[in-house]
Amino acid sequence: MHFKLPAILAVASATVSIANPTWQAENSWIQSFEGHQAPEHTSPRPNISCFPKTPHQPPPWSPPRNKVCYVKSYNDSVSDDSTYVLNALHDCNNGGHVVFKQGLKYTIGTALDLTFLNHIDIDVQSYIQFSNDTTYWQANSFRFVFQNVTSFFKLGGNDVNIFGGGTIDGNGQIWYDLYASNIYTLRPVLFGLDGLHNSTISNLVLRYSPEYYHFIANSTNVVFDNINIAGGSKSANVAKNTDGWDTYRSSDIVIQNSHINNGDDCISFKPNSTNILIQNLFCNGSHGISVGSLGQYVGEFDIVQNIYVYNISMHNASDAARIKVWPNTPSALSGDLQGGGGSGLVQNITYDTILVDNVDYAIEVDQCYGQSNLTLCLQYPSPLTISDVLFTNFQGKTSKKYAPETSTFACSSDSACSNIVAQGIDVQSTGGERDAFCLNVDVATLDVNCTDTYKGFN
Ligand SMILES: *[C@@H]1O[C@H](CO)[C@@H](O)[C@H](O)[C@H]1NC(C)=O
Ligand SMILES: *[C@@H]1O[C@H](CO)[C@@H](O)[C@H](O)[C@H]1NC(C)=O
Ligand SMILES: *[C@@H]1O[C@H](CO)[C@@H](O)[C@H](O)[C@H]1NC(C)=O
Ligand SMILES: *[C@@H]1O[C@H](CO)[C@@H](O)[C@H](O)[C@H]1NC(C)=O
Ligand SMILES: *[C@@H]1O[C@H](CO)[C@@H](O)[C@H](O)[C@H]1NC(C)=O
Ligand SMILES: *[C@@H]1O[C@H](CO)[C@@H](O)[C@H](O)[C@H]1NC(C)=O
Ligand SMILES: *[C@@H]1O[C@H](CO)[C@@H](O)[C@H](O)[C@H]1NC(C)=O
Ligand SMILES: *[C@@H]1O[C@H](CO)[C@@H](O)[C@H](O)[C@H]1NC(C)=O
Ligand SMILES: *[C@@H]1O[C@H](CO)[C@@H](O)[C@H](O)[C@H]1NC(C)=O
Ligand SMILES: *[C@@H]1O[C@H](CO)[C@@H](O)[C@H](O)[C@H]1NC(C)=O
Ligand SMILES: *[C@@H]1O[C@H](CO)[C@@H](O)[C@H](O)[C@H]1NC(C)=O
Ligand SMILES: *[C@@H]1O[C@H](CO)[C@@H](O)[C@H](O)[C@H]1NC(C)=O
Repeated sequence: MHFKLPAILAVASATVSIANPTWQAENSWIQSFEGHQAPEHTSPRPNISCFPKTPHQPPPWSPPRNKVCYVKSYNDSVSDDSTYVLNALHDCNNGGHVVFKQGLKYTIGTALDLTFLNHIDIDVQSYIQFSNDTTYWQANSFRFVFQNVTSFFKLGGNDVNIFGGGTIDGNGQIWYDLYASNIYTLRPVLFGLDGLHNSTISNLVLRYSPEYYHFIANSTNVVFDNINIAGGSKSANVAKNTDGWDTYRSSDIVIQNSHINNGDDCISFKPNSTNILIQNLFCNGSHGISVGSLGQYVGEFDIVQNIYVYNISMHNASDAARIKVWPNTPSALSGDLQGGGGSGLVQNITYDTILVDNVDYAIEVDQCYGQSNLTLCLQYPSPLTISDVLFTNFQGKTSKKYAPETSTFACSSDSACSNIVAQGIDVQSTGGERDAFCLNVDVATLDVNCTDTYKGFN
């Protein structure tokens, strides 16, 4: 039997329901249905395929859902809708479809632990904004163990699909301004994943994250598809550390078909990121697609392995392809970013088909991260090895920042790096040069004009 919503339910929204005390008592609008006809106002779950490169594991598959819950909203841009959100997620967990309805605005003013999710679709058609109460968020956001990362909400569980075409807004301006006056401000990341498995996140618009847009921790088999990221500060205070995605203790992640305008790494692979496919991205204004930084913490062993990066256009960035490793001695980039002395391994990394447009370094392999004094860095060679790295089919022009160098390959000792290959590198500096600073690497496998002119690191 085809399910059809009664007219009154078809216009169900929180504002309507709030006017009615009986409805307000209910958690959310719930509707069960059978057969293949979905109720009105639901977006079909996108059929995501990973193409043209295919991941190590097929994208997750989900069974159909059999219930719909519509999230209520005060729709006034001030009141906290968090209870409505939690209620709908609980009501439709284990087999349902939750709808943030088009035309409503949702405000989230409470840190939400969403690690209970299981077999659920979350259909974000509307506009969701996090509140601007920086005092509340700094005291209550979720703390991750890495680099003082915190998040507005923590997403975890199994078989979760988030889609719908809506916008999620981190209200970043207030945070960019606060950070400018205090670098120890704990700015939440927009999407915090901790233990999310067999899931997809697609067709979303993300705006003004206070810090990273995604932090992916302890997660496996998650695909991101068609994500549009932009933000930026409207004041003189720059929106810093707005990485697109950071992966940590995670494997089998795909990030593809996305458009990113940001102010730090477009993507970064933090410690213990393995089997990751990145393809078809437009990145503008970033710090490139980065392995690292690694080796930040003494006594830790960081692994980044089996990474494939394909078909990226990189515009107005500090780097296109980057591997950044802290030296084996304490170093500081800034008061809130310091480290060095850790070990580990970077192995089997490919950057294939990269367009470079006004980028400072097309390729930057750097084992002196956070230490601008090269002499000092070389006195403490890194115990973190880099091997089997392929840079292939790069095209375009670098900026004038390090001209005539287009790239840098700098390992801290002879034994730190092996089998680093750069082939088909058709990248020119402002005057047509193809120079690169090469140190402790096999120059025979690098399709650049290796020189010993050190111009610095990003
Ligand atoms: C989903 O996409 C795959 C690959 O493009 C295709 O084989 C499959 O038939 C599609 N499934 C549906 C339900 O559209
Ligand atoms: C914070 O948000 C509230 C509610 O939208 C608004 O009234 C207030 O002006 C905002 N405060 C700042 C500092 O932007
Ligand atoms: C929600 O608020 C917006 C404007 O803030 C308004 O345009 C819209 O009609 C409201 N939706 C409902 C269902 O009241
Ligand atoms: C990941 O899992 C480990 C082990 O269960 C846990 O200690 C840690 O807090 C989790 N989160 C992060 C961000 O590492
Ligand atoms: C975390 O923040 C504290 C100060 O709040 C700072 O001392 C420390 O260096 C930070 N740690 C990292 C890894 O950034
Ligand atoms: C992920 O999916 C696979 C295959 O369906 C399943 O074996 C595994 O248990 C799932 N992972 C979790 C954490 O549920
Ligand atoms: C990364 O994996 C290695 C090897 O399993 C382990 O020793 C190390 O503690 C892990 N690091 C983190 C940050 O989880
Ligand atoms: C490369 O990515 C762009 C989007 O940035 C896409 O339009 C194009 O089709 C992709 N090319 C291939 C060969 O997949
Ligand atoms: C790239 O970033 C610059 C600087 O923020 C901006 O002016 C430009 O419009 C962006 N380009 C695109 C295509 O988004
Ligand atoms: C290297 O990584 C790629 C994915 O980027 C993977 O397909 C391949 O199997 C890995 N090679 C080895 C020897 O593990
Ligand atoms: C760099 O470090 C070396 C070795 O410690 C030291 O001799 C030199 O003065 C330093 N250079 C600068 C510019 O600080
Ligand atoms: C390579 O770089 C050196 C030093 O900058 C320069 O003298 C030489 O002309 C370059 N060779 C080519 C083939 O570009």
